[in-house]
Amino acid sequence: MSTPQTAITPDTCTSAIFIEADILTKPSVQAACNRALSALARLQQAHPEDNLCLTIAFGADFWSSLNRSNEAAELKNFRPLGQGSTAAPSTQHDLLIHIQSNNQGSSFDLAQNVLDAFGSSITVANETHAFRCHESRGLDGFVDGTENPKGEEDIHRIGIIGNDRPDAGGSYVLMQRYRHDLKKWNTYSLKEQEEAVARSKADDIEFEKADRHPRSHIARTNLKENGVGLKIVRRSLPYGTASGEHGLAFIAYCASLHNIEVQLLSMFGESEDKQTDLLLERLTTAVSGAYYFAPSLERLNQLQA
Ligand code: HEM
Repeated sequence: MSTPQTAITPDTCTSAIFIEADILTKPSVQAACNRALSALARLQQAHPEDNLCLTIAFGADFWSSLNRSNEAAELKNFRPLGQGSTAAPSTQHDLLIHIQSNNQGSSFDLAQNVLDAFGSSITVANETHAFRCHESRGLDGFVDGTENPKGEEDIHRIGIIGNDRPDAGGSYVLMQRYRHDLKKWNTYSLKEQEEAVARSKADDIEFEKADRHPRSHIARTNLKENGVGLKIVRRSLPYGTASGEHGLAFIAYCASLHNIEVQLLSMFGESEDKQTDLLLERLTTAVSGAYYFAPSLERLNQLQA
């Protein structure tokens, strides 16, 4: 029996914190993970109403140093995608800490505890605080998450590696920060914004297939391979400051890195038709990108065993 980490399943949390870091002293990581999980348990017990949850995930360089080649075999470093103003940079790090809860104060408390647990064994590269807007809308005004898998069974089937595998309970992760240019976005008419997404803005209705622009976000990401939908579990939330950088903290979990990668290639002009997503032209720019593997809780408690 393998238990997935806790930040993968909940899909209504109102606050999130994302921290990416590099590992300086590998032997300290196991004890740090154990301390971080103890802090999580303590804070969950103190504030059960906050639904506090945590995922700790690792980049390919650290993971391969554990010599667990039969686990997370698909894991690799993120590579830059696309070209020019619609490119996606690679900002790969060793460690991702993903916190979700219904209370920003509790998220902050856990983040401090997790960072204390890792202490000087890591150096933090970036920290992003995110929040849920009314009706789960992005800062662009569109509802985000509608077609996400719903219900624990579907979320686990799509987001988490099944029990027949040595890495059961684990999940591949894409973390990408997107900076929006809302002034530019708001120069586009409602029709042009809806064309870019291929859903209506006010009532969130999907356009019929025949009415979708081939470069719309839905046309680029609603993909099938041999008749099977390439599904992923998204837990993205808006982030940022009103006066400075803001946009979408995009995070996706999946039992196979392949599903996530095929969608990215299709958005960034690296699929067969070489088209890019209209959102990259009209709304947003990718400013970070990294792949991670979130092992099961049992494996996180015994990374070396
Ligand atoms: C700034 C970047 C992005 C924005 C603003 C954005 C926004 C949206 C919106 C508004 C929807 C429609 C509602 C929904 O079903 O959630 C959507 C759907 C979706 N997005 Fe994104 N998204 C972004 C990046 C990405 C990335 C990087 C991926 C994949 C790696 C992705 C994958 C998907 C998928 C799979 C769907 C559902 C498609 C369907 O089956 O209809 N999105 N996104």
